[in-house]
Amino acid sequence: MSENQKKDSYKIAWLPGDGIGIEVLEAAKIVLDKVNLNAEYIHGDIGWEFWRTEGDALPQRTIDLLKTVDAAMFGAITSKPVKAAEEELVPELKGKGLVYRSPIVRMRQMFDLYTCLRPCKSYPGNPLNYKENIDLVVFRENTEDLYAGVEFNPVPDELVEVLKNISKPFSAFSTLSKGEFAISCKINTKKGSDKIIRAAFQYARKHNRKKVTIVHKANVVRATDGLFLDVAKEVAKDYPEIIFDEANVDAITMWLLKNPHNYDVLVAPNLYGDIISDLCAQMVGGLGFGCSGNIGNELAVFEPTHGSAPKYAGMYKVNPIATILAAKMMLDWLGETEKANLIENATAAVIKEGKVRTYDMGGNSTTLEIAEEIAKKI
Ligand code: NAI
Ligand code: MG
Repeated sequence: MSENQKKDSYKIAWLPGDGIGIEVLEAAKIVLDKVNLNAEYIHGDIGWEFWRTEGDALPQRTIDLLKTVDAAMFGAITSKPVKAAEEELVPELKGKGLVYRSPIVRMRQMFDLYTCLRPCKSYPGNPLNYKENIDLVVFRENTEDLYAGVEFNPVPDELVEVLKNISKPFSAFSTLSKGEFAISCKINTKKGSDKIIRAAFQYARKHNRKKVTIVHKANVVRATDGLFLDVAKEVAKDYPEIIFDEANVDAITMWLLKNPHNYDVLVAPNLYGDIISDLCAQMVGGLGFGCSGNIGNELAVFEPTHGSAPKYAGMYKVNPIATILAAKMMLDWLGETEKANLIENATAAVIKEGKVRTYDMGGNSTTLEIAEEIAKKI
């Protein structure tokens, strides 16, 4: 993961998307404007409306925009299963074989945003903290694993034939008829594993973290998780000052709850990373606090981890702190550490003071009131 050198001016793609994505990005803009980043914020079309009317939730013009910017802020999108998505297409586009795929997953793969960085910190005074002094950083591999998109339902006959010949355990499924089983491939590469694990160790070194925990299930999922763990053992040799730790994904969910203070930096393949980062986010306040960066060597896209929350869309009720902290992460990534710290300190002060809170924190302030209060403290 390369962190950039400061520049005189920036181009930032601004991708609100759907539902509350629009509201939380509006809030983040209020805070970003206050730190006077010399940036041009360029709107990009993304989300459900573009799927419905153009058959593409991530139109080519937005992909072209992303090729020209320093970073992007993304709100949230609404996703639906393939069949439900097809039903909502405008009549002219129906029956054309268009297949819905989540634009955020596509952006991650298209721009090789291989690191999903999810810091989870308990800010003092947050009534939603599970325990005080939690400060975990989750590195989730972002382009491979069960998210590789190699899936079959129904499973083609050619594949069934091959599997029958080469895999003994497959015989348990091979008598089933078409449509009665499905296959999703978990694909992990040495290169992809090395990149994410190295990013985690590098982060630990740079930020004076003591320990990196590798999360896996190598005792059962031996091929792919075994590879991930083997790569981790190799990478760890380059970081002798950092404690190498490993844990099974099931066990660690329990241990994290029991004693989150035993952990520091965690790194995991895509799906386990998704799950443990939600668990960690919940310990520090839930979806209103889960911030995230999808980071590659050339581009990084920052977002709250929550979705478009249709039931709150248009109400300006939801907590914008996750998105404001994502904007802080973007500034860090751009090398604008001072401005990033201004945002984090102001956010921490508002949380501590507790006068302005959204519904999830037991208050009734609006999304924009939180942003304005944070901006006031900068
Ligand atoms: P969601 O994250 O949108 O919302 C679930 C619930 O969490 C909300 O109803 C609300 O109670 C709470 N919540 C979410 N954000 C909050 C905030 N900022 N402040 C306070 N409370 C908050 O998940 P859901 O309802 O399962 O999915 C809605 C849509 O979003 C779906 O179409 C889903 O596919 C999509 N989605 C998109 C993501 C993305 O854009 N990266 C991630 C997750 C879901
Ligand atoms: Mg998730």
